[in-house]
Amino acid sequence: MPSDLDECREHLLVVDVNDQNKIDKSSKFQIRNLTKVSNAGVPILKGIDLDVPEGMILGVVGPSGSGKSTLLRALNRLWEPPFGTVFLDHNDICDLDVLSLRRKVGMLFQLPALFEGTVADNVRYGPQLRGKKLTDEEVRKLLITADLDASFMNKKGSELSVGQAQRVALARTLANSPEVLLLDEPTSALDPISTENIEDALVKLNKNSGMTVIIVSHSIKQIQRIADLVCLLVDGQIVEVLKPHQLSQATHPMAQRFLQISS
Ligand SMILES: Nc1ncnc2c1ncn2[C@@H]1O[C@H](COP(=O)(O)OP(=O)(O)OP(=O)(O)O)[C@@H](O)[C@H]1O
Ligand SMILES: [Mg+2]
Repeated sequence: MPSDLDECREHLLVVDVNDQNKIDKSSKFQIRNLTKVSNAGVPILKGIDLDVPEGMILGVVGPSGSGKSTLLRALNRLWEPPFGTVFLDHNDICDLDVLSLRRKVGMLFQLPALFEGTVADNVRYGPQLRGKKLTDEEVRKLLITADLDASFMNKKGSELSVGQAQRVALARTLANSPEVLLLDEPTSALDPISTENIEDALVKLNKNSGMTVIIVSHSIKQIQRIADLVCLLVDGQIVEVLKPHQLSQATHPMAQRFLQISS
């Protein structure tokens, strides 16, 4: 009888990319032998293999410099992964139009960078690029989904706190109706209440619209609050994939040390 953990690992089995029949059809992202070497010849990612099941919140944790941001940035081609290494819905992302990929795979960074203008201008930005003007009602709904009061609509982006601006950045990303949200330490600059607001918004989005979420965080507690699955990245390699409550069972020595220091 397989345990929950076994079932969980099954989603993440390393499969031969040439054998399409073995690929789990419910995987949103498949990563196969993803490798990156710096210009100076230093390995940054060392053959990452990972399946990210659709509709899951995946937490990525690991020591500073282990390659978390590099891994995340490959998924929407902020750096170009090699052909045959990253697949979205079974399509090689290098074959996709990069702008439509980034609409499907939205990203939030540690610090929000709002454009000049009002909150509504920011939220309308993406759809406007495609010739669609969001109505006030649509903007309001997006703000509420991002856990921000609709009265913020006409405020200037420059008048907001970092926590409020991060939620506007989330609403702006959501305006593109992404299927996947990539988050690189989205709350590390925020106070506990703003952090909770963002976490609530992410969990609601995941539950209500089945959005797949991949979140890099330095906070093990945050990952335990919101993630369905955690992957531990150490020195450019995935050393463990576990359920959040099983993190203490990590066996890799570096993973254990990292968890001891972080908790
Ligand atoms: N453009 C680059 N050129 C050379 N090396 C880089 C570049 N970007 C990142 N690196 C190196 O790659 C490694 C992984 O960096 P990355 O930013 O992915 O780590 P991280 O796990 O996100 O770290 P942190 O937790 O500090 O954000 C580091 O050793 C970093 O110095
Ligand atoms: Mg990083």
